[in-house]
Amino acid sequence: MKETEVIFSMERIVVQGGNPLKGCLRINGAKNSAVALLAASALTDAEVVLDNLPEISDVNVMLEILKAIGMNVTRLGQFEWRIAAGKQLSGQTPENLAVKLRASYYFLGSLLAKKGKVNVALPGGCKIGSRPIDQHLKGFQALNVACLLEDGQVKLSTDHLQGGHIFFDMSTVGATINVMLAASMAEGTTIMENAALEPEVIDIANFINAMGGKVKGAGTETIRVTGVKYFGSCTYSCIPDRIEAGTFMLAAAASGGDVTLTNVIPEHLEAVTAKLRESGMEVIPTLDSIRVKSTGRPKAVNIKTLPHPGFPTDLQAPAMAFFGLAEGSSVFNETIYESRFGHAEELNQMGANIKVDGQTAIVQGVKRYRGSFVTAANLRAGACLIIAGLAAEGTTTISGIEHIDRGYDRIVERLQTIGADIKRQEFFSNMSAETIQN
Ligand code: EPZ
Repeated sequence: MKETEVIFSMERIVVQGGNPLKGCLRINGAKNSAVALLAASALTDAEVVLDNLPEISDVNVMLEILKAIGMNVTRLGQFEWRIAAGKQLSGQTPENLAVKLRASYYFLGSLLAKKGKVNVALPGGCKIGSRPIDQHLKGFQALNVACLLEDGQVKLSTDHLQGGHIFFDMSTVGATINVMLAASMAEGTTIMENAALEPEVIDIANFINAMGGKVKGAGTETIRVTGVKYFGSCTYSCIPDRIEAGTFMLAAAASGGDVTLTNVIPEHLEAVTAKLRESGMEVIPTLDSIRVKSTGRPKAVNIKTLPHPGFPTDLQAPAMAFFGLAEGSSVFNETIYESRFGHAEELNQMGANIKVDGQTAIVQGVKRYRGSFVTAANLRAGACLIIAGLAAEGTTTISGIEHIDRGYDRIVERLQTIGADIKRQEFFSNMSAETIQN
């Protein structure tokens, strides 16, 4: 070993393919709601109890940020947390935490509402495209807020938060939620047009209303928020994760299995249900569960990612693992992010036949994948590789699993309960001290 090298331990996931998944699995709370609910909890001086929060690293980081800005955070149960305001709330989130995830930008909305002044480092998150925040800033500006980007920080300030009228240039979940948070304490009424329709937007609106807010129209393209002076306390349960559910639906089908997922809202899963049915799979929903039963090799289908209720971009990579095994050729069109096909190269390493051209991928189905050493470059790419590994012949070893832990709650252990041969494995690697610092 060179003097400047350091040995450190990491984990990877090892999947032995070929076991059809069978049985019943409970779906946990939605990552993309949970992170926004946690930021929204800073709006109130009273105490809130949030339930059904998934045990994932993105939630842990949001809890750490809450503590750092002065909130009291207490764990009440596996998925249940009590959040209560401390004596003083800071308008500055720690940079080392904020850069770890995208959702740290929700503190812009909630702390602006609460304090009129906030600094948050430019957010991190999956590297899947440029991901600007211009629509967030446009929305804040319409509420009489001065916005400054300086030293890698977003700095917002206002002496009087005033309701405004915003027409978003595109459907954006983040900006819709963020402006809703800020507007919830602004004077007067804010109207947001071309608002995002995602279930997570509705969940945050319901939470704001449960604390005493006045949000109307969430889930439609026009949301009206009338500001209130104070929020109260409430107990609120996060919606189930439709992306986690969709991932397990695709995993069940790809493995040739028969799995029932409980604690789901089947209406949130209509786009993936339609594509699985189109491919020939059986999908049987009840009021709060969904069963996916493989009928053999799927037929190819075309997939275009779109804002809700279209096919979610977050399931594009998991779906590619499944349709890579279809009979015929599928065309995937990614319209939300400009570079979200990195997983295609890893699938090709496992024997897939995928050609990417800009925002389009032509997925020529193959009969089987073969196990290989692959790397998860982001969260959903990781889920895609697990699905491919479950369906492959032989052993698949996936590194980069810290991305998977950001958004899938104990995925290895839960897949084991439905028959997967999958485990975490510690391994040792060496890296130069210089690389680690960078
Ligand atoms: C949320 O990201 C999710 N993240 C993403 O999930 C998800 O892919 C995305 O919504 C779309 O459904 C969280 O909720 C934490 P957007 P968000 O604002 O809010 C462009 C996952 O895997 N845009 O709806 O950041 C943007 O670049 C993650 O769980 C602007 O141009 O997404 C994108 O092309 C990845 N300017 C499109 O809009 C803006 O100001 C939609 O983005 C805002 C967005």
